[in-house]
Amino acid sequence: MEKIDWDILGFNVVETKSMFKATCKQGETWQAGALVPYGTIELSPAAGVLNYGQGCFEGTKAFRTANNRVVLFRIDLNAKRMAVSTKRLCIPEMNKTFFINAVKETVLDNIDYVPPYNKGTLYVRPIVWGTAPAIGVKPVEEYTFMVFVSPVGPYFKGGVRPLHLKINKDYHRAAPKGIGNIKAIGNYSASLYPLTKAKSEGYDEVLYLDAKDDTFLEEVGTANLFLIKDKKLMTPQLGGSILAGVTRDSVLKIAKDKLGLDIIETDITLNELYNSDEAFCTGTAVSVSPVGSITDDDGVHSLSDGNIGPYTMKLKELLVGIQREDIDDDFGWLFPIE
Ligand SMILES: Cc1ncc(COP(=O)(O)O)c(C=O)c1O
Repeated sequence: MEKIDWDILGFNVVETKSMFKATCKQGETWQAGALVPYGTIELSPAAGVLNYGQGCFEGTKAFRTANNRVVLFRIDLNAKRMAVSTKRLCIPEMNKTFFINAVKETVLDNIDYVPPYNKGTLYVRPIVWGTAPAIGVKPVEEYTFMVFVSPVGPYFKGGVRPLHLKINKDYHRAAPKGIGNIKAIGNYSASLYPLTKAKSEGYDEVLYLDAKDDTFLEEVGTANLFLIKDKKLMTPQLGGSILAGVTRDSVLKIAKDKLGLDIIETDITLNELYNSDEAFCTGTAVSVSPVGSITDDDGVHSLSDGNIGPYTMKLKELLVGIQREDIDDDFGWLFPIE
């Protein structure tokens, strides 16, 4: 293993020792699989995933904790979401135990790549594709599931700092009754153009509005959105076009149980966001990231005077504290790797 400088990790692909691989035919169930050396794969140019985007994935992290062990965080929820995603895309529905075991096996075999406590995390990417060829539009006959990992640092350059979001009403992320509520690979290809445009203008991410009326907040490109107003924690309700984030669910539970905040999942307008006391977004990759400003057609709306709000800070500390075992895991969210 090449020496890694843990102090300069970004959010990039670092090659590791191994990856998990399994295949499954349409109509069969996921079962056998094995670790193989990390490396490239061969695909038919007619593979279902390449032609018709039949593929979905998950994202989770392994943490090295204060108790010097490696843990996964709420992997049962990723397993559940993968089952929903695969079913929706006509991929053989992923069995939850199979999924969790594959992730655990991959992390264990690559344990040396889990950054030291407080220096980063091991990002885990389970992904499944239609690999059999198809020329007509249909679910293909065979699928490949892989799990690969990469040590990562902060998602946004500059670490924890208030983010600058851009609203661009020319683009939606997902439509009602579409596939925004699953982790379909196509959702992310659709986001690349608005994201690249926003980044070239100096913004960190895109904030999407609802596809029906352009009125209600949906989510950020790779994260869910929250605001705090008068000790109430509000987040857009899950209506089918928003991804049900594992971090979203965790922050809601922490805010209610540990901070005594009122939790409101509802439709939220831009004006409510602009008048909030604090706003932040959540995700496996971004953790809890404060929102500093939102720019729309009318100009820039600054939040929290550009600072990180006190509740945002507290929620981040509590979430990361549980993940790194700085504080007790009262919720039973950690899955040790042994
Ligand atoms: C579109 C989108 N929304 C929200 C999230 C946050 O989900 P989670 O907290 O499960 O990582 C992600 C990241 O996975 C995402 O890609």
